[in-house]
Amino acid sequence: MPILECHNLSRSFGGLRALSDLSFSLEEGEILALIGPNGAGKTTVFNCITGVYPPSAGLIRFGSQVINGLPTHEVARKGLARTFQITRLFRRLTLLENLMVAQYPFSELPLWQTLLDFRKTTALERKLAAQAQEILEFVGLGKRAGEKAENLPLGDQKRLELGIALATRPSLLLLDEPAAGMNPTETEEMVRLIRKARESGVTVLLIEHDMKLVMGLSERILVLNQGRKIAEGTPREISNNPLVIEAYLGHGGMGGKKEGGHAET
Ligand SMILES: Nc1ncnc2c1ncn2[C@@H]1O[C@H](COP(=O)(O)OP(=O)(O)OP(=O)(O)O)[C@@H](O)[C@H]1O
Ligand SMILES: [Mg+2]
Repeated sequence: MPILECHNLSRSFGGLRALSDLSFSLEEGEILALIGPNGAGKTTVFNCITGVYPPSAGLIRFGSQVINGLPTHEVARKGLARTFQITRLFRRLTLLENLMVAQYPFSELPLWQTLLDFRKTTALERKLAAQAQEILEFVGLGKRAGEKAENLPLGDQKRLELGIALATRPSLLLLDEPAAGMNPTETEEMVRLIRKARESGVTVLLIEHDMKLVMGLSERILVLNQGRKIAEGTPREISNNPLVIEAYLGHGGMGGKKEGGHAET
């Protein structure tokens, strides 16, 4: 059974059709890339799946459950986590604190109990801190646990964000441009981390403009243009597909990195 199925998803913003009739599915353990020129509708797919806003039409199934229109925290509780195109860290908190905050809503202890019972609070804090440290080690930031997030270089911020997403112990991870703005060394490190996450049992849906990364990492690629799927296949099939090449020609070719971009919701 697929871990994620999207059937005939559409989403409009006023008169703009950002997504039209998009269907695809994702098998457990797979790495699927979602690519397409700027404004193609990629982030909109993520926003519909994670409940930032509901699709205007269509159906989203996660495992055996329909998750259309569920609020983001409920989607997250079901085991679906994401990172954002523009990083969203608590910049003034340390790396360890960022991870502890991320895990808190997923800890078993209810808030009222932690407020009333100091011993339980400290026990919970110790547990969260230990788990946070474990995740920091996983993403290669173990030695920087006490530093403020705002002092990290961009590559490390993106790794911390990946750690925050993993802190909720998801079965499906949505990554929106995890290597944007990174240098080649940082990108390689990110690729290694995404593979490692997958090996630990996480399924990955990935948006990325860096074609080298996409071609090397994903098993399957889905191409969007103006809100519609124009191709789906293996990296080899996609790189030889005339429709895909044409869609990218006006955008600096398939090796081209994006320029500018816009804020997301
Ligand atoms: N909240 C919103 N309100 C209005 N229009 C939106 C909103 N979100 C996205 N859009 C529009 O929908 C279209 C698809 O946007 P989306 O962000 O999904 O593209 P994208 O493929 O992620 O692009 P990029 O590669 O630049 O990140 C664009 O035309 C965008 O301007
Ligand atoms: Mg986007």
